[in-house]
This record gives sequence, C-alpha cells and structure tokens, in this order.
Amino acid sequence: MKNKEIKICIVGLGYVGLPLAVAFGKQSKLNGFDINKKRIAQLLKNIDSTKEVASKDIKKAKITFSDNPKIISQSNFIIIAVPTPIDKYKNPDLKPLLGASKLVGQYMKVGSIIVYESTVYPGCTENDCVPVLEKYSGLKFGKDFEVGYSPERINPGDKINTVDKIVKVVSGSNQKTLNIVASVYEKIIKAGVHKASSIQVAEAAKIIENTQRDVNIALMNELKMILDKADIDYEEVLKAAGTKWNFLKFTPGLVGGHCISVDPYYLTQKAQRLHHNPQMILAGRDINDNMAKYEAKQIVSYLHKNKIKAKKILILGATFKPNITDTRNSKIEDLIQELKKHKYSIAIYDPFIKSAEIFGCQNIKKSEINKYDFLVKAVNHKIFKNIKHHYEILKYHNAK
Ligand SMILES: NC(=O)c1ccc[n+]([C@@H]2O[C@H](COP(=O)([O-])OP(=O)(O)OC[C@H]3O[C@@H](n4cnc5c(N)ncnc54)[C@H](O)[C@@H]3O)[C@@H](O)[C@H]2O)c1
Repeated sequence: MKNKEIKICIVGLGYVGLPLAVAFGKQSKLNGFDINKKRIAQLLKNIDSTKEVASKDIKKAKITFSDNPKIISQSNFIIIAVPTPIDKYKNPDLKPLLGASKLVGQYMKVGSIIVYESTVYPGCTENDCVPVLEKYSGLKFGKDFEVGYSPERINPGDKINTVDKIVKVVSGSNQKTLNIVASVYEKIIKAGVHKASSIQVAEAAKIIENTQRDVNIALMNELKMILDKADIDYEEVLKAAGTKWNFLKFTPGLVGGHCISVDPYYLTQKAQRLHHNPQMILAGRDINDNMAKYEAKQIVSYLHKNKIKAKKILILGATFKPNITDTRNSKIEDLIQELKKHKYSIAIYDPFIKSAEIFGCQNIKKSEINKYDFLVKAVNHKIFKNIKHHYEILKYHNAK
C-alpha cells in the first residue's frame, strides 16, 4: 500500500475521532462514519457538540461524514475510535468495540489495514477484535488484511496539547504494516511518532499512562485526608514539598471521566486473568472512587463547625473536569448524593451543560444564584472566576 493509495475512514467521531478526522482532513480527503445519526447530522452542519473542534475547522476539513456503514467500503485504512467503557461490575465492556469491528468486518476489503485507537488491555486488538474482523469479512488476518494499534493521548478541553502536538505511539501486526501506520500518522503529527515494537506494547503503554496517573492522584487524595485530620493545610504542604527537585507534582482531585477512572479496570482484568491481584491499582481506584463522598462530608463538617445554617446549597460545576461539557462518570454526582443524605436541598449551576436538569438537580440560570445560601465551587471552570463562593472542594482537578 503506497501513501497515495491510502484512503482513510474514521469509525467513531467523538472526542477522539473528530479531532483526528479534522487533522487528517486538513491534508487530504477522508471519510468519517458514526452510528449516531444525530452526531452525523450535527457534523454535516459543522457543529461539534463536544466543543473540541471549531465549526470553521470542521468546514475546512475534507471529510465526508456519514451514518451509513457502506461508506467504510470506500477505504483501505480504517481507524476505529469508539468508546471502551466498563459495565456495572467494573469489568471492561467491549460491546462498542466489537460492534464497530463487526461493522468494519462487513464492509472492509482485501488489503485493508484496521487501526484501533480505543483504549484497551494488552492483547485485546489481536485476541478480541481480529477474530470479529475475520468472522464478518470472511478474510484471513495476516494474509488478506493487517491491523495496527495507536492509542489516543489527547486531553479534551486542552487547546495547547492538541492531537498534532502529542507524540503518537504506533504499532502494527508486522514490520511493513508498522511502517505504513507510522507514515500515515507522521503526515499529521508534528510531534512525531514512536514505533512500538508490538501491538501489545502500544496497548500496554496507554493503559499504564492512565493507571500511573490514577494511582498518583489516589496517593495525594489519601495524603489530603491525613492532613485534613491533622488540620494542616494540604496546599501549603504541597507548596513546600514541591520545592524538592524529585517531588512529583501530583495533586488531590476528583477522578471522573471515561479514561482515568475506567482504564485501570481494563488493566485489572488483564492482571486477574494472569492470576495477579493488582493491589495498588485497586486501592487507588477505591480511594479515588470515594473521594467525592469524602469531600461532601468535609462540606457538612465545615457547615457544622462554623454554625452555618445553610439549607439550599448551590454546586458550581457538574462536569468531570473544568472547561468541558462532558459529565460522564463525573464525581459531582456522588458529591450531591452524599449531601442530599444530610437533607440539604441542592441545585447546580453549570453553563457548560445545556439541559435544565442534571444528576437529579435543577441546573439553574445565573440570575438565580442569589437564591442560594451556600455556594460550593466543585469544578474549577474559568467562567466561575468572578462568582463568589463560600467553599471550594479540591482546588485541583487532575482527571485529565
Ligand atoms: N476522550 C478522551 O479524553 C480520550 C483520550 C484518550 C483516549 N480515549 C479513548 O478513545 C476511545 C473513544 O473515546 P471518545 O472519548 O472519543 O468516545 P466518545 O463517546 O466521545 O465517541 C465515540 C463515538 O463512537 C461512536 N460509536 C459507538 N459505537 C460505534 C460503532 N459501532 N460504529 C461507529 N461509531 C460508533 C459513538 O456514537 C460516538 O460518537 C475510548 O476508548 C477512550 O477511552 C479517550
């Protein structure tokens, strides 16, 4: 496959797929497919509801958007960027990934390369996805088609570290495929590519990046709990400790979203299949999962200690991190549930969220703010800068 023969199709146009499609679309024509008809209808009007890509950039990009999977058959380099969530038991839920593999299998042709970008555990591409591609295409892996894996490392809401500025880890099912995958991404990634020695290395690299971050934040959260008990200001402690050259500058935070709070469970399942119990990873998950509840209790004890008779509490922010629209796995929901147990009436103010209700609370208008007794800044949105709050939970929100 020569570069000029490559025709890209991106399957899954969400937070990851759309910015990638737009980056490719600045250079050459490509197709973009999503099963979500509403998403495609918006993209056809150059509207990105995730607010990651500006309308003018979608308009300029040479992308043909479609919700018809037949469009996949026009391409020979197919990138899959669909969600990889967990189920209610915190086990990996591969339904979207295998569903996308099935569709691609149905429409791919001989000679194609299928590259996965979704975050998975090591072995998932070759052991879980390839059999589905083979089954639905009737083609033979290694003879009729090849696969690659290139994890996405973007950070939604971050307009500085954009897709082209982050080194892209690439991998392929053989050396030739690796070279083709690398050359395709090299065209758009200014920061360059890193050729991983195998698909499993690339899969593992992504999953440990996020697991490392989760565990480090968990340690800082635990330290905050100890310092709170000792009545020592944790921010002051971090300032002092941070003056040492080798002190890692992690900070306490609510870990929500669909990456850091989810990916460690993918690694956990892999570890458990290998008969290893990942104690530190699970301890970190447990601490981070309970942090919002802990912070809610801190608010309650602050109110009691200071004899503040607040009944109506307004929570500023509901998204899982600042300056984005995404509420998936937002820990603010846990914070609210815990506060409600203490009989407070709770409302939310978050202009990033368009709906009038979120997490069972009213999402109020700015003009109504003064109806509330006690304002808790829960998410550090820049737009809250001039709103006077009474209390701020975890000044830092690191779940990127
Ligand atoms: N968002 C991030 O910050 C981020 C960063 C790095 C990696 N990732 C990983 O990238 C992957 C995608 O995440 P995302 O945030 O873009 O998800 P998303 O939910 O924003 O977007 C996924 C898109 O895939 C579509 N989709 C689902 N099933 C499909 C199918 N069978 N065929 C076609 N389209 C389908 C959905 O309609 C949706 O538009 C996940 O594995 C995630 O862990 C996400």
